Amino acid sequence: MSMDAPFIAIADEDELKPAQMKRISAGGKKLLLCNADGKHYVVDEMCSHEDYSLYLGCIQNGRIKCSLHGSYFDLETGQPTVEPACEPIHTYPVKIAQGKIWVDPS
Ligand code: FES
Repeated sequence: MSMDAPFIAIADEDELKPAQMKRISAGGKKLLLCNADGKHYVVDEMCSHEDYSLYLGCIQNGRIKCSLHGSYFDLETGQPTVEPACEPIHTYPVKIAQGKIWVDPS
């Protein structure tokens, strides 16, 4: 087994501009790769409040905003910082290597 397992390459290192997102499927999960001011995060695609894609929202100040009811989630911790959402979204380990962005979706 490779030393990198269970990390999976999901994008080129310079693929996303700041505030851009990419929908990915990894480990059987629907996830979002987010570029927040040059730092990359991977979180669940769906909001924890209702079944609504955060891909339709936007990234601001290290948080992702749900465009349905306006909750914000911290991209580092997944914790909601603005109601109505009160449950966190999952966050996943990310690393940059060999010119790619990798995630551990387990
Ligand atoms: S569905 Fe995201 S805040 Fe309601």
